[in-house]
Amino acid sequence: MTRDGGTAHRDGMNDPLSTTGLLAQVLPAQALTAEVYADPPRVVLFPDEEAVIARAVDKRRREFATVRHCARAALERLGVTPGPILPGERGAPRWPAGVVGSMTHCAGFRGCAVAHATHLRTIGLDAEPAEPLPDGVLDAIALPEERSGLRRLGPGVPWDRLLFSAKESVYKAWFPLTHRFLEFDQARIELDPAGGFTATLLVAPPSTVIGPLTGFTGRWIHRDGLLITAIAVPAQI
Ligand SMILES: CC(C)(COP(=O)(O)OP(=O)(O)OC[C@H]1O[C@@H](n2cnc3c(N)ncnc32)[C@H](O)[C@@H]1OP(=O)(O)O)[C@@H](O)C(=O)NCCC(=O)NCCS
Repeated sequence: MTRDGGTAHRDGMNDPLSTTGLLAQVLPAQALTAEVYADPPRVVLFPDEEAVIARAVDKRRREFATVRHCARAALERLGVTPGPILPGERGAPRWPAGVVGSMTHCAGFRGCAVAHATHLRTIGLDAEPAEPLPDGVLDAIALPEERSGLRRLGPGVPWDRLLFSAKESVYKAWFPLTHRFLEFDQARIELDPAGGFTATLLVAPPSTVIGPLTGFTGRWIHRDGLLITAIAVPAQI
């Protein structure tokens, strides 16, 4: 049973063009999304993508291929002809010129969101199984004040996993802007039980970043055994 009793996002099951999915519920309308909950039997990759994944184990190959299946559907909805989506610097996907986006995969979920760079400055997405983190992980990824913040939250949501997911989304939104790694203790997350979160950056962005970058706001959803976090930053006017 889901938190709100609904399973509307599964109505389209493996239709990656579904607009009623989980990602659409945590992102603004300028972000075009596509998601699936199982791997389609045959996903055709571009030769350059095949080369990247040639030596990977089957699990990795399936998530790599399916999330690109989603990405191409999202790009088509954006009006952009999809080509190969290759990993670039530090694994960040290389989007077509003028496009920003983010991809995520975990057991039972693969999803992508893209937008025109004139509409959104960056996107960060993360999907996780809605289960507590393995022992020891929270201590490795959370600041002391984040750990005490979790203790004030009520039952029903694996808040530690949600905190982790929010940090992963922060990194995926941060990296395309800065081309820098971000340590887990370099952003402080505050989770809002109503479905939002804020991230305060504890490190200055490099001087190459145009415009202010002091933190992010995001949204989250907990449904059908999944936790999803999403950040979408409006383009500067
Ligand atoms: C890169 C990372 C965020 C991926 O997260 P994950 O939960 O392991 O995996 P997900 O399935 O959600 O996401 C994987 C996708 O993220 C994208 N990705 C990988 N590196 C990325 C980067 N540097 N920037 C943006 N997106 C990236 C890719 O599309 C990748 O899928 P692909 O390899 O099939 O193309 C994670 O492995 C990592 O390195 N984290 C350390 C940095 C961090 O999180 N800091 C916290 C700061 S507060």
